[in-house]
Amino acid sequence: MSVTVRVPAKVNVQLAVGGARPDGFHDLANVFLAVGLYDEVTATPADELRITCEGPDAAQVPLDRTNLAARAAIALAARHGLAPDVHLHIAKDIPVAGGMAGGSADAAGALLACDTLWGTNASRGELLDICAELGSDVPFSLVGGAALGTGRGERLRELEVGGTFHWVFAVADGGLSTPAVYGEFDRLSEGVRVPEPVASQELLDALAKGDAVALAAAVSNDLQPAALSLFPSLTGTLEAGRAAGALAALVSGSGPTTAFLTRDADGAKAVAQALLASGTCRTARVAPSPAPGATVL
Ligand code: C5P
Repeated sequence: MSVTVRVPAKVNVQLAVGGARPDGFHDLANVFLAVGLYDEVTATPADELRITCEGPDAAQVPLDRTNLAARAAIALAARHGLAPDVHLHIAKDIPVAGGMAGGSADAAGALLACDTLWGTNASRGELLDICAELGSDVPFSLVGGAALGTGRGERLRELEVGGTFHWVFAVADGGLSTPAVYGEFDRLSEGVRVPEPVASQELLDALAKGDAVALAAAVSNDLQPAALSLFPSLTGTLEAGRAAGALAALVSGSGPTTAFLTRDADGAKAVAQALLASGTCRTARVAPSPAPGATVL
């Protein structure tokens, strides 16, 4: 018997970052939107904890206990007095180290798959608590849709979305480490008073209305200057997408994936083709949003 869970990637349509806290984290106003690029995590009983991974970027995924999916299984098992003897197979389609919460998706997927396989029947609240222990973005991977994350991003308020938004994601050659990007944010803001992060009402209204033009005018990512500083060639990718007619172009989370909002599905196809032809990215993927959170298949 095995259990497979499908989990979406995310883009941050607003990522407002406050100053560094004493614990090293940053307070955020983080508007997450789940997008239709998915990983699938399959949990099967095994003699010991084992991780395998398939997909174009599988070679970059750690297969030891540092993998967030393994840590999710260990955390759930520990709470219920079980041994985490499970084989977790990850079918990976979300870019690795790309700023799209691929590792967080695998953690949320593994958690739900193990909970189902083991019959531990954790409540939604317990699952969300474990997610928050595993990482700031993991609770959102479980919930999906759209949500405002505050605190370090783990405290979620679900948001209404009034339509489908069409995105293109340009996958860069290489990854960026999230702590390194926050570190660069701190370096760039040295001596500057960083304001309290606040969600944009214009942006929340645009999401609620399903208005792509209004959303494009309101998107923002405070980590973008830091990501561009560490990965300067992304500037060319953003320019290529804008030149191809994208309504908005921004770095996804801590990058280096870049995100392009388009008017409709045809517009997304055209921008994806232009990005590929521009030679400024490794690949370009089209995805609609919002997408559902972790789902048992
Ligand atoms: O929570 P998570 O493990 O995903 O965070 C990875 C790293 O990103 C943290 O160690 C920290 O350096 C940075 N981070 C942050 N503020 C946040 C979220 C993440 O500084 N709100």
